[in-house]
Amino acid sequence: MKIIIDTEENIAKKAAQQYIDLLSKKPDAVLGYATGSTPLGLYAELAALCDAGKISFKDVTTFNLDEYVGLDGTHDQSYRYFMNTNLFEKIDIPIEKTHVPSGLDLDIAAEYDKDIEKAGGIDLQLLGIGVDGHIGFNEPGTPLDSITHVVDLLENTREVNARFFASIDDVPTQAVTMGVKTVMNARDIILIALGKSKAEIVERMINGPITTDVPASVLQLHPSVTVYLDSDAAALL
Ligand code: PGA
Repeated sequence: MKIIIDTEENIAKKAAQQYIDLLSKKPDAVLGYATGSTPLGLYAELAALCDAGKISFKDVTTFNLDEYVGLDGTHDQSYRYFMNTNLFEKIDIPIEKTHVPSGLDLDIAAEYDKDIEKAGGIDLQLLGIGVDGHIGFNEPGTPLDSITHVVDLLENTREVNARFFASIDDVPTQAVTMGVKTVMNARDIILIALGKSKAEIVERMINGPITTDVPASVLQLHPSVTVYLDSDAAALL
């Protein structure tokens, strides 16, 4: 794992440079995107670069990590809605080339790994990390050979995400997520972690044993992972 410790602002710039480098070599790259608070700075940077004509996503295909079961893409807490409003509507990507697992049609969601494969596989997968070590919605205990599947969300994850909903009762109890294997199949991976709430799990991801108890620890086995941390998230390294 390559570890880069910097400010949130510089992390957005440095990670965006990885996208510029990739798309200059491979304009039709397949990008794996993530939701949550963590990637917002990077998405703003990518949108600004696109606006300035320094990067283009017009030939890119994207696959998002996950989606809540039961939420339509027009629901303002769905991850489809998040991606449309925070990135896709701000860059030059044709919306039909963007994919988010269906939270409504689980038969379609079951084909997600095949869809990724047909598109040529993911060149660069972006990840955040949950305080419990989840990547995507792969909670502790998820088998390392898992592909896209439906998960029951842990109570803690629902509580953490309740900040975006009117009340915890509105947070869905299930999600569809790429599996650990789906993520590990990506050619390159960027993981960003910000803030002191992530410090302990970041330390376990990097220095701890590879275990399904900390799904992100499996990234130690991936040949090309860049981990971007602010000083708070890196505090226990
Ligand atoms: P966050 O979520 O970016 O909102 O902290 C990360 C995650 O749960 O993967």
